[in-house]
Amino acid sequence: MGQMIGSRIWGVGTAIPDRVVTNHDLATMMETSDEWIVERTGIRERHWVEDGSGVGASDLGVQAAYKALDMAGVKKEEIDLIIFATLSPDHDFPGCAPIVQTKMGLAPIACLDIRQQCTGFVYGLSVADAFIKAGAYKRILLIGGEVHSAGLDRTTKGRDVTVLFGDAAGAVIVGPTDDPERRIVSYHLHADGAGALDLCVERPGCVATPRFSRQDFEEGKHFPKMNGKKVFRNAVTRMPEVVFEALLANGLNISDIKLVLPHQANLRINEKVQQLLGLPDDKIFNNIQKFGNTTAATIPLLMSDALAAGRIQPKDLLCLVAFGAGYTWGSLLLRW
Ligand code: UT7
Repeated sequence: MGQMIGSRIWGVGTAIPDRVVTNHDLATMMETSDEWIVERTGIRERHWVEDGSGVGASDLGVQAAYKALDMAGVKKEEIDLIIFATLSPDHDFPGCAPIVQTKMGLAPIACLDIRQQCTGFVYGLSVADAFIKAGAYKRILLIGGEVHSAGLDRTTKGRDVTVLFGDAAGAVIVGPTDDPERRIVSYHLHADGAGALDLCVERPGCVATPRFSRQDFEEGKHFPKMNGKKVFRNAVTRMPEVVFEALLANGLNISDIKLVLPHQANLRINEKVQQLLGLPDDKIFNNIQKFGNTTAATIPLLMSDALAAGRIQPKDLLCLVAFGAGYTWGSLLLRW
């Protein structure tokens, strides 16, 4: 390799549980309908792990990691840092990255968990790029993985949130590059904690003593709750804004982008983002119809599908963009 100028994704892998949960299946658990879910969200089905199977985000992450290693042509022993982005870890603590390290039988390498919810993969890829540019690590395994199904309220009370989420993991191997035409170009990251309680799980939470009470349980405070309309409004504002910020910083136009890979929270959000960015249909990719919102996994899942569909070619300028709980949002430009 000539002089290292940055980082690039060498391989992508995904893990999707076998169990398919259709909108019709959900309608047997709560008052909802295929018609409502498709019209409001675009989602037709999602995958959930089998109840009681003991499969956690770390297990899906490991499966995805082996596939990413295969595509990258990298041996697992070469990995020198694991970054795991999730809001549904196996345990409150420790994080999933050390669990992945042990399940993969790796040496005691550096392991880092990050939160950042739906923006977790964009933040994680930015951290990976920065570590590689700093010369700290050379083969980074970045995983975005979620098992939401274990934590959702499957009664009518939770229907606004529960119908949205699916389980999955996506992984990438990030390594150094000397090719200016195939690299991570830039990232623009933001957060606004004023929206923190608009999409959250309140308990367990150490602002309360005890952090989880019988009353909390009875009130369902361990289930995610969302101010859907407010989150929606912020998503459709922040995502176009942060794409334009990236373009401006790099002296690029929207027409320079080959494909936008947006976080998959709601197809209506992405249609609005597409309209505000003035993007033709062939420059944006969605797959929420099949997977629902898999939070930190949506973008690697999209990458994998777009690659399989021949929608991504070497050197293509891609724009990743996400918005989610926190609030957090960000965009990342890369030349594939
Ligand atoms: O990934 C992180 C970011 N997350 C997001 O960006 C999600 C953003 N928000 C959304 O996608 C939308 O707000 C939702 C899909 C969650 C909800 O769609 P909406 O068009 O904002 O519906 P709504 O919450 O205003 O609810 C409309 C009606 C209500 O009934 P009433 O009060 O009008 O009688 C709800 O009770 O739809 C009802 N409803 C449902 N009905 C059937 C809510 N959820 C459901 C459901 N099935 N699953």
